[in-house]
Amino acid sequence: MLDSLAIKKDFIFFLKEKLGFNDNEIYINQNIVLKNKDKTLIEKFLKQKEEGVPLDYILNSSKFYEYDFYVDSRVLIPRPETEILVDYINNHFLSPIKVLDAGTGSGCIGISIALKNPNFKVYGSDYSKDALDVAFINKKNLLVKNFLPIRANWLSCFSEDCFDLIVSNPPYISEGDSHLDELIHEPNIALVSKDSGLFHIKKIIKQSSKVLKNGGTLVIEHGHDQSEVVKEIFEKNYFSKIINIKDLQLIPRITIGTLER
Ligand SMILES: C[S@@+](CC[C@H](N)C(=O)[O-])C[C@H]1O[C@@H](n2cnc3c(N)ncnc32)[C@H](O)[C@@H]1O
Repeated sequence: MLDSLAIKKDFIFFLKEKLGFNDNEIYINQNIVLKNKDKTLIEKFLKQKEEGVPLDYILNSSKFYEYDFYVDSRVLIPRPETEILVDYINNHFLSPIKVLDAGTGSGCIGISIALKNPNFKVYGSDYSKDALDVAFINKKNLLVKNFLPIRANWLSCFSEDCFDLIVSNPPYISEGDSHLDELIHEPNIALVSKDSGLFHIKKIIKQSSKVLKNGGTLVIEHGHDQSEVVKEIFEKNYFSKIINIKDLQLIPRITIGTLER
């Protein structure tokens, strides 16, 4: 059953992380007697692997920016390119500021910023109540005092001139995109957007031009082919000093602008 190298690697990781086996037990003393409880967990693991469930969901754990986040199928699994976004913020903002992570999901962006900057006040908003429940679990597990999950349809519940910094990794995959076939275990609300993937991005940029303080910064993650059009939407909504950051494949994936009304 464990016929591919990738599954074997995941299985060994599972034995260590979930069942607490050490290298000696796995590689040398291979005749260990399994408890019934462990047998059940191994059977469940094999079934989930067969169904293509991502390892992070099986382990209920995802490593992101030095921290272990609880994850399950209610939230997107945090991606490495999003760590680049967090890194940018942690290296460019020093004085106490009020931050919004719009579409917080597991809370990975907002919580990583809050933990590195205890003098920031960070809000993490999401429309999905399920996702917010996970953000609350991570707030509790990681003992984050300066991060507050809040239910909101993008920025609609916030008043004008409210934040110094808004960051978002919104859903940006267009309906019917073939990549979605590989992402069936992750929530649709976290992935898909109408209008060629731009519906939510347009909403966030437009609303940010009111909810951000003048001079404030908007940071948005987007698809590999969206940087030009996202730049145009920033410009139409009074953002200037627009730059982008490339991902590990050197593709522009994050756009940053300053509001100058
Ligand atoms: C791509 S996921 C990002 C999750 C997390 N920030 C991350 O980077 O892993 C997008 C998030 O936006 C949320 N979302 C979708 N539509 C929304 C809306 N109208 N208002 C607020 N959040 C929304 C989804 O529930 C999801 O958690």
